[in-house]
Amino acid sequence: MIKNSNNKRLGWVITGSGHFFEECLDIMSELGEFDLFVSKAAEEVIRMYRKKNAQFPKDTRIFKDTTASSAPVGFFYKNIYHTLVVAPATSNTIAKFVAGISDNLATNIFAQAGKCKVPCIVLACDTEPEHDTKAPSKMVKVYPRKIDLENTKKLKSFELTTVVSSVEDLKKVLKKI
Ligand SMILES: Cc1cc2nc3c(=O)[nH]c(=O)nc-3n(C[C@H](O)[C@H](O)[C@H](O)COP(=O)(O)O)c2cc1C
Repeated sequence: MIKNSNNKRLGWVITGSGHFFEECLDIMSELGEFDLFVSKAAEEVIRMYRKKNAQFPKDTRIFKDTTASSAPVGFFYKNIYHTLVVAPATSNTIAKFVAGISDNLATNIFAQAGKCKVPCIVLACDTEPEHDTKAPSKMVKVYPRKIDLENTKKLKSFELTTVVSSVEDLKKVLKKI
């Protein structure tokens, strides 16, 4: 699933969303070899939700957002990815995606994946007018705004982009790649 018949890899972008965060880490812990791109906010959020370090499969390559030019985007020019997953995707990251902004690692990876015609699967946090979410210490109810819901809807019209709204749907789509 993760390395396809052409020996291409899966790329995964993780952003700073508490919603779906732990579930995504669980999915990743069971994947084969893949490349993980971590937003600055995700680096902070991971420490709030996981008491100990997240476990990733051996050979996972992890890239943090440490360069102004988002240097790891260079991998996309080498044609090494068959699919990009962005999960979970914050409302911030989705707003930037639909506005065509590339000013950090997550947004640059998405933009370059699109420009290199790599299909992308995005697990959006804000797909319903209200949902329960896990804050670091307890469950809370949140009410995504009209702008957040509109941005998610706009992203669905992007070429080569599949937007999913649940962990179950993400797992189903991942099984097919
Ligand atoms: C504990 C915690 C939980 C958060 N959960 C969410 C969330 O579920 N959805 C969201 O859109 N933003 C959430 N945020 C806010 C984002 O981390 C913030 O908008 C950040 O700027 C996103 O950066 P990124 O999109 O580059 O990862 C959370 C922040 C914290 C501290």
